[in-house]
Amino acid sequence: MNIGVVGLGFVGLSVSCVFANKGLNIHGVDIDEQKMSIINQKKSPFFEPEINEILDKVLNKSLNVNSNLEKCVKESEIIFVCVGTPSNSDGSSNLNYLKNTCKDISKFLNKIQDGKFRIIVIKSTIPPQTIETEIMPLMKQNTSKQIGVDFDICSNPEFLKEGSAINDMLNPHLVVIGTNNEKTKYKINNFYTKLYSDSVNIMNTTIVNAELIKYTNNSFLATKISFINNIANICNKIPGADVEIIAEAIGMDPRIGKMFLKAGPGYGGSCFPKDVVGFLNFIKLQGFSMPILESTHKINQNQPLEIIKMIKSKLSDIDGKNISILGLSFKKNTDDIREAVSIKIVNKLLEQNAKIKVNDPMAIPNFKQIFNEKIDYCDSIEDCLKDSDCCVILTEWDNFKNIQPEMFVKLMKNPIIIDARRIFDVNKFKDIADFTALGYGK
Ligand code: UDX
Repeated sequence: MNIGVVGLGFVGLSVSCVFANKGLNIHGVDIDEQKMSIINQKKSPFFEPEINEILDKVLNKSLNVNSNLEKCVKESEIIFVCVGTPSNSDGSSNLNYLKNTCKDISKFLNKIQDGKFRIIVIKSTIPPQTIETEIMPLMKQNTSKQIGVDFDICSNPEFLKEGSAINDMLNPHLVVIGTNNEKTKYKINNFYTKLYSDSVNIMNTTIVNAELIKYTNNSFLATKISFINNIANICNKIPGADVEIIAEAIGMDPRIGKMFLKAGPGYGGSCFPKDVVGFLNFIKLQGFSMPILESTHKINQNQPLEIIKMIKSKLSDIDGKNISILGLSFKKNTDDIREAVSIKIVNKLLEQNAKIKVNDPMAIPNFKQIFNEKIDYCDSIEDCLKDSDCCVILTEWDNFKNIQPEMFVKLMKNPIIIDARRIFDVNKFKDIADFTALGYGK
């Protein structure tokens, strides 16, 4: 079966690789020539476990990548649209890439006379009602072909996570299909049951519900994180309290569940911050409000300041102090620093004249593009810790977990550790002379 994928960013490339590896013929399209040239060298433009191995296997066989959208539309029965929908400065979603792509697709559809029913599947995260109130009218204006008769558009939001994208694509907990058309419903259900087998969980619903499910899902998860971070901030002030113990206990209640209860410096990445603000913007435009989600956002924005407060509780004056940051990416197993807490914390520390050294297994090249010469980039943890007055752990990378307390004591001028991700059992560090380790939420 011939499938098109438009937009080869994080979601689009992961989808393309997994589909191609399962034997489908994928025509991937992007407008970014540089990105495609990297992919055509069998390399992923971003770090993601397993993706390079799959690219090596499928590229120029079941996966072909170029900028020819017209050919992609002509040859494909189903076209997945995975283009970015970044935030505008007012928090609303920028739908320009999506609109341009759909407009071009409708123009190309006009030229095709083979009588095949094509389905455009929107995977990009978009505000509710976008497909029916904006995309469908736009496509109608640009093609003489009829929606629902000659072609159709449906919603199929993507839930994969960075760092485990391939596994998430191979084992989705749910496939949401939003369509108001029986033929589309049948074809897309058939596509996914063939791809995954009959055991895959599919939810068929309306287009607007599918759009709302994605925003609600990410908003709920972000709220769970801000909730536990709020509890952690309270625990920080109560002697003997520990957010990890509280999270473990409440996570055992099956009605709550243990996931997304890890307190930390705040959520980042390309989805949660953007989707929470995008949903709030949508809700406001409808004349409603959602105070609980406003608090989720507010708590998250304040999290870097909570970490700065912890640093200041041990280093009263930051001016001129050497501060080591371990971990820059927004979470482990990715080089992505979009909306990473590390950027906000480094900026705050620089404002107060701290001297910053950083180490991260993957994200240094991306961090350099933001901070250039303003900070020192260290290839090893040892270099990063040398002569430091304070070390802050911001990402839970596995290699940081193996650092022994003696190493901090040996290398640092002043061994103060602020463990914002709780990767260490700070109790074990208690008896080491002249050593201070603070775990966030304890
Ligand atoms: C998220 C959603 O999980 C995914 O379904 C959606 O498609 C895209 O957005 P992703 O951004 O890749 O995926 O990362 P995720 O693992 O969900 O983590 C997001 C942020 O929350 C990270 O900064 C992470 O460190 C933080 N987080 C997560 C916590 O602070 N505590 C937790 O318990 C879980």
